Amino acid sequence: MRAIIPVAGHGTRLEPHTLTLQKCLLPVAGKPVLEHILDRITNAGITDVTLITGHLGEQVVEFCTSYPDANFTFVEQKERLGLGHAIYQGLDSVKDPLLIVLGDSIFELDYNRFLSCPNSTIGVAPVPDPKRFGIVELTEDRISNVWEKPDNPPSNLALIGIYYISSQLELSMGIEHLIKHDIRTKNEYQLTDAFQVMIDKGHIFNAFEIDECLDCGIPETLLSTNKTLLTRMEGNSVHDSAVITNSQIKNCTISENCLIKNSQLENVIVLRGGEVINQKIKNTIVGFDEIFNLAQTEELEL
Ligand code: G1P
Repeated sequence: MRAIIPVAGHGTRLEPHTLTLQKCLLPVAGKPVLEHILDRITNAGITDVTLITGHLGEQVVEFCTSYPDANFTFVEQKERLGLGHAIYQGLDSVKDPLLIVLGDSIFELDYNRFLSCPNSTIGVAPVPDPKRFGIVELTEDRISNVWEKPDNPPSNLALIGIYYISSQLELSMGIEHLIKHDIRTKNEYQLTDAFQVMIDKGHIFNAFEIDECLDCGIPETLLSTNKTLLTRMEGNSVHDSAVITNSQIKNCTISENCLIKNSQLENVIVLRGGEVINQKIKNTIVGFDEIFNLAQTEELEL
């Protein structure tokens, strides 16, 4: 089976860091978000991976050359016309099944069970803010309707960003229908709307509750994911080239060429070349080559 991972977005909510690094390559618990995703899907036996690239796509290509466990293909999304349009770029007109994983979350679940579902299956989870998500309506274990970011959500069960599609061909036809009839939501061709087209034509979708969704899309969630994963690893992740002197660090990701001196850091991600000297900081991302000055940066509430 093949997987498609769309990683084309600008990651505006993680600027300024994403102005120079593609969002999916930001480090969390010592390695890029994309590497965490790839580790999970290759462990489940998927080695053919298509990445839909866009903003800073060349960085994604370069990262993949050093990832040994998968065969990659890259497709560039030249126009930003929505998630449905992005996925369409990577589909084949064959009836084979497909896994789609969005590139800004790390999902914890039994992948083997998810991938052996008899029907197309959408990963779902209850969310506190359903207007920000695609939402499903269930009739027993079947999905009867889906909506993309509805104003009046009929449930709080969200499409969380992982999808098993039993036939690429049917998904391809669903998205083609949107494009042909110019059906857009929020001005974009939505994957969620393509699922509704498929449901209306009789395609069966089941829902699969995801154990844990470790979001990496905004500073607060990138940091809470860093903390969750490092707590499980019982430690910090410190690059060999980083120098730490006279400092205490807890649940920190310290990248290459960083300097930490006379400081106390808790749940901090220090990006390449960052320096923290004479500081006590918590729940913070220190940017590339940034010389951290507490007066300029707010601590985040997690
Ligand atoms: C996308 C999908 C949405 C889904 C969400 C999960 O939205 O369009 O249906 O619920 O991912 O994160 P985005 O977050 O890209 O706006």
